[in-house]
Formats: sequence, C-alpha cells, structure tokens
Amino acid sequence: MPNFISIKKKIKKFNKNIFVDGDKSLSIRWVLFSSLATGVSEAKNLLMSEDVLAAIDVIKKLGIKIKKKDNSLKVYGKGMDGYKYKKNLTLNAKNSGTLGRLILGLVIDSPKRIKLIGDKSLSKRDFKRVTLPLSNFGAKFKFKKRNGLPLIIKGNENLKPINYNETRGSAQCKSSIIFAGMRTNGRTLIKAKKSRNHTELLCKYLKLPIKIKNKKNFDLIEVNKIKKIKKLNYRIPSDISSAAFFIVLTALSNNSKMIIKKVNINPSRLGIVTILKKMGVNIIFKNKTKYKGEAIADIVVKSSKKIKSINCPTNLNSGAIDEFLIIFLVAAKANGVSYFKRLSELNQKESPRLIWASKILRKIGVKIITTKDSIKIFGNPKLKINKKIIIKNFLKDHRIFMCCTIAALSFGGNWIIHDKDSIKTSFPSFLKIISYLRR
Ligand code: S3P
Repeated sequence: MPNFISIKKKIKKFNKNIFVDGDKSLSIRWVLFSSLATGVSEAKNLLMSEDVLAAIDVIKKLGIKIKKKDNSLKVYGKGMDGYKYKKNLTLNAKNSGTLGRLILGLVIDSPKRIKLIGDKSLSKRDFKRVTLPLSNFGAKFKFKKRNGLPLIIKGNENLKPINYNETRGSAQCKSSIIFAGMRTNGRTLIKAKKSRNHTELLCKYLKLPIKIKNKKNFDLIEVNKIKKIKKLNYRIPSDISSAAFFIVLTALSNNSKMIIKKVNINPSRLGIVTILKKMGVNIIFKNKTKYKGEAIADIVVKSSKKIKSINCPTNLNSGAIDEFLIIFLVAAKANGVSYFKRLSELNQKESPRLIWASKILRKIGVKIITTKDSIKIFGNPKLKINKKIIIKNFLKDHRIFMCCTIAALSFGGNWIIHDKDSIKTSFPSFLKIISYLRR
C-alpha cells in the first residue's frame, strides 16, 4: 500500500453522524494513573494509536502487567511503588511529547539511571522545559544534544517539594510537575497559566490530596504526597482535537450537516469552538452529560454560508493549541483579514506548525503575512484551488496530514499528500471516516 493519498475532488454535500476515536490526552493519562493504582483498572474505548501504544510499552517496561483486547485495556497496577527500575532501562516515548514529559515526573524517584528516547520529531523538541523544574525536586538530567532527546534521568528517593510557576500554558509541563509532586514528601505549589486540566480532574475524581484554586488567568495547584490510587475503570470519550477536522470540513462544505457523537467538551479544550463561533460557524452541543469529572456532548455542525474574519484573543490560544492548523483553513475562506498572535508554542509541536501552516497556505494561494509568532490571513470567500499540490517531508506530523486532507476536500485541487501512516499517531480511523462521508 502506498503511503500517500491522492484527492482530486471536493466532497459532495453530506448529512451524517459519526464517532471519532478516543481522547489522546485522556488515554495516555489513564494508562499512567492506572499503572500506579492498586488493583486492576480497565478502560474501554481507549485510543489505540501509536502515542498511546507507546505509553503502554513504557509502563510494561516498568514492570506493570497489561492485557489488551480491541479497544479495551486492563492494567494490573501494583501501587505507587510498583515500578521496577531495572539497570540500563531505556524508555521510548516515540512521537509523544505528552508521554515523554509526563513519564519523567513519574520515574523521578528512580535511584537508577533511565534513558528516555523518542523518534526524529520528538528528539528535536524541548525537554528542558520539564527537566529544569524537575531538577529542583532533586533529580539529575544529562542531555546528549542541547534540549532534546535522548536524555538520561537519575531520580532521587528523597525528593524535595518545589514552588513552580508555569508560564507557557503547557499542560504537559504542569502535569509532569503534578506527578513529581505526588511522589514528594511535603507540599508542592504550582501557579499555572490556564491549560487543559485532565490531570487535575482525574486527581479530583480519584480523591487524591490535591487542592486547586481557579483564578481568572491561572490556577493555583497544591500537590501533596500520594500514598494510594484506587483502581480506575473508565470509558474514554471522543477527542475534540479529532472532531475538529470534521467540524471544519462541515463548516467549509455546502449544505451539509454533521453530528459528532459523545465528544469530550472539557471547557479547557473548547478554544476551537469559541473561535469558530466568533467566525460565524453554526455549532451547538446536544445531549450534554458529565462523566467522572469530564463533560461530554454530541457536537452538531452545519455548513456556514458566511464566515467572518477574527482578531483571535490570545487567551484562547492554549485551549485551541492543537487546532490552529485547521482553524487557519476557516480563516482562509473568511470575509476579511484574520489575525492570530503569540503562537510561538505552535513551532514546538510535532513539526514547526506555524512555519508549515504558512507554507501550505501560500501553496494554495492564500495571502498571508507572518512574524516569528503570528500570522495574518487574508481570507477569500471564493477560495478554490485549481492546481497540483504535493505535501511531503513534514516530519510525519499527523495534524499536517489531516489538515491537508480537509483542505483538499473543501477547496478542490489535485493533491498528493504523503505520510498517510502518520494518522496512526492520534486518529487511526480518520481515513475510514472520510471514505464514509464520500460514499
Ligand atoms: C497535551 C498538551 C498540549 C498539546 C498536546 C497534548 C497534553 O501540549 O499540544 O497535543 O495531553 O497534555 P502542551 O502542554 O505542551 O501545550
């Protein structure tokens, strides 16, 4: 099977209900929490993507038994001290920044050296952002290259609590420090710029000794030593970051409607919905429920006849951080100039996404002006592509692949998009859903 797709036709109008795959952030967190629980935890609808499979492999390497069947997983946790730190242990986070950063917080009590490695894309990403605060707990780190992987961590059995000011709005940094704080005698205090809060919600649901005060622009989190985590049975809801591609496809198509069922609508992840609604996209939530602290709903989207440009408020950046590529496509069809700023974090992702988004938008004939951390997009409500577009060498970034597929289906043109396998990172059933919509 070739590892590219070719798209030559825009999608025809549709009216469909779909399910997208399980939430990646929650799936990885569930695997990590249940690996420290006492007893057997079971997850249903776990996202079986390469990032989550990497988390499963890492936990197995730490001596935790796991049984997998279809999209269900059983983790046989042995308590907070259940990890076996063997000599010369190497953990491979593959493509996953979340796994690579969070696991460092969990193995911070290892008296033995552990090597952390990842794939080409992850190895280029910044790990100092977590190793700096983690070294204040008493762990030691060695890097081969400047800030990236591989790195060696040597933990400490007598960790000291820390005070930490998280200023990027990074849930990975915040969660890594929460995990390290859970292993520390004394009280760790975190002041964190707002970011996704799945780790905190799981802690709350599990009644762990963590206190959270929500302020307007930041959260204050107090973490104390955790002695026991009870087993955690969980049904993972669908991922809004995967739903995002279909929200945009529907918004950009003619006379179409879609319902995306049972999606996690955690308010800290709703940046895309807030932004698109401001741009005039018709999105509503139906059948809202709560599940173990997380909010779930069916998302109903309709085609937009008129899309407005936006001067995007920066307080929405963190809640839409994985969705900007796809949001830029909506801006490309808006009536007027859209402006997105303070987005340097986008270049810290699986590929330098702000740079890549600019290249792709230019390729498809959209006028843009960029700086190091911002982009102005001159929208064209009549945007149509009539030429051949080839997309390759994007560090196998799954979101670049899916975003280009949506662009091809929405704006036309003759597209060849390489590295189709990249969808296995976060959304293995993406192309199956596309085929279903084209039927
Ligand atoms: C994630 C946090 C975000 C996001 C990533 C998943 C998480 O990264 O981009 O895809 O699960 O905590 P940052 O926290 O670095 O912004």
